[in-house]
Amino acid sequence: MDSNARAAPLASRLSALEQRFREIRARTRALAAPLSAEDCAIQSMPDASPTKWHLAHTTWFFETFILSQHAPQYRAFDPAFKVLFNSYYNGVGDKHPRPERGLITRPDLDAVMAYRDHVETAMDDFLHDAAHAEPVAALIELGLNHEQQHQELILTDLKHMLSRNPLKPAYEKHWPLTSVQARKADWIAFAEGLHEIGHDGAGFAFDNETPRHRVFLPAFELASHPVTHGDFIAFIEDGGYRRPELWLSLGWDAVQARGWEAPLYWEKRDGQWHTFTLRGLMPVDPNAPVCHVSFLEAEAFARWADARLPTEAEWEVAAAGVAREGNFLESAAFHPLALREASPRGVPAQMFGDVWEWTRSDYGPYPGFRPEAGAVGEYNGKFMCGQYVLRGGSCATPASHIRASYRNFFPPDVRWQFSGLRLARDAP
Ligand code: AVJ
Ligand code: FE
Repeated sequence: MDSNARAAPLASRLSALEQRFREIRARTRALAAPLSAEDCAIQSMPDASPTKWHLAHTTWFFETFILSQHAPQYRAFDPAFKVLFNSYYNGVGDKHPRPERGLITRPDLDAVMAYRDHVETAMDDFLHDAAHAEPVAALIELGLNHEQQHQELILTDLKHMLSRNPLKPAYEKHWPLTSVQARKADWIAFAEGLHEIGHDGAGFAFDNETPRHRVFLPAFELASHPVTHGDFIAFIEDGGYRRPELWLSLGWDAVQARGWEAPLYWEKRDGQWHTFTLRGLMPVDPNAPVCHVSFLEAEAFARWADARLPTEAEWEVAAAGVAREGNFLESAAFHPLALREASPRGVPAQMFGDVWEWTRSDYGPYPGFRPEAGAVGEYNGKFMCGQYVLRGGSCATPASHIRASYRNFFPPDVRWQFSGLRLARDAP
């Protein structure tokens, strides 16, 4: 899984892993630090989880897949947690039902923090014992990438929970952002050709990014920037949510059944669109990438704009030479930032960070995909049905977590992730 690192001397490889373990675990705690115990406990919808559950489940991952199986002296913090904090691994056994995660007041937040301490101490010892740690280094790396995924989920789930409070409380009050001049997206042309997509073997990747394989792409064009809030307001004002001809059947059903009139978190106050952010209710910035739209809304917008969504292969080919820089979790904006100039010019801008970009690609196995044996094999493969691929990471994704081959996935009707879109079209 980690061929570069494997070439490094064993001791330095383990100390690098130990360093990353400390940093990532500390980052999760830091995300939860501004929250009260009440903030951490409740669940605002079945898809979202309480922060306390995320704090415990990420810990459970290390306990279940590493310490319980590979550390001979390890004693479980509390045997009941095996079921309580199992998310979806049938290979591990029973699990507490997901929609009821917000009903758990005990263990309280202090007990969950003590669970984190307990597992961190055991992992510290384990990482100093090369004979035990070295054979499972790839599993520890998976646990760290897993925790980074949950850092993003803490923020998206917390945002949903705070949005349901009529007082519209902020997670972070301070707004570090300055407004910038408006910028318009243009088209970037890509010639037809045979390309390779998928993980190229350097550094960590999830199994769903493998195997690397060839794809043939007809000539296409990709927008230089993501679709903005301003673009989306034009769609709304042109009757976008009232015109069935723009929508997939499933999309029009959702518009009617759920009364969609704008992206999630939008509301009109005094005639102006506002959106709920982790910094409270804010006027919508027309120059910033639109977010909290479903695949179904992204599809309708693209049809209205006389364009389409890119396939995941088109997106990855376009991203291959682009620096992995952008507005990530670390910038602490927790919101997409206005369109910026590409550097160098002529390559697509803001491919990484700001908003996850919906693609037209069904989330399925790459040719030759084989999940790992055992319960960790349930990590990605069993979800390859009925979902769509998103690319590029968001303002809630840790910077070191994303890469061009990364495949995120969600069902077509969900809106609570930082999900937006970028247009594509066939070459003229
Ligand atoms: C890739 C974001 C869809 O939310 O279930 C967390 C990430 N996988 N724990 C999800 C994940 C295992 C996953 N998504
Ligand atoms: Fe998980």
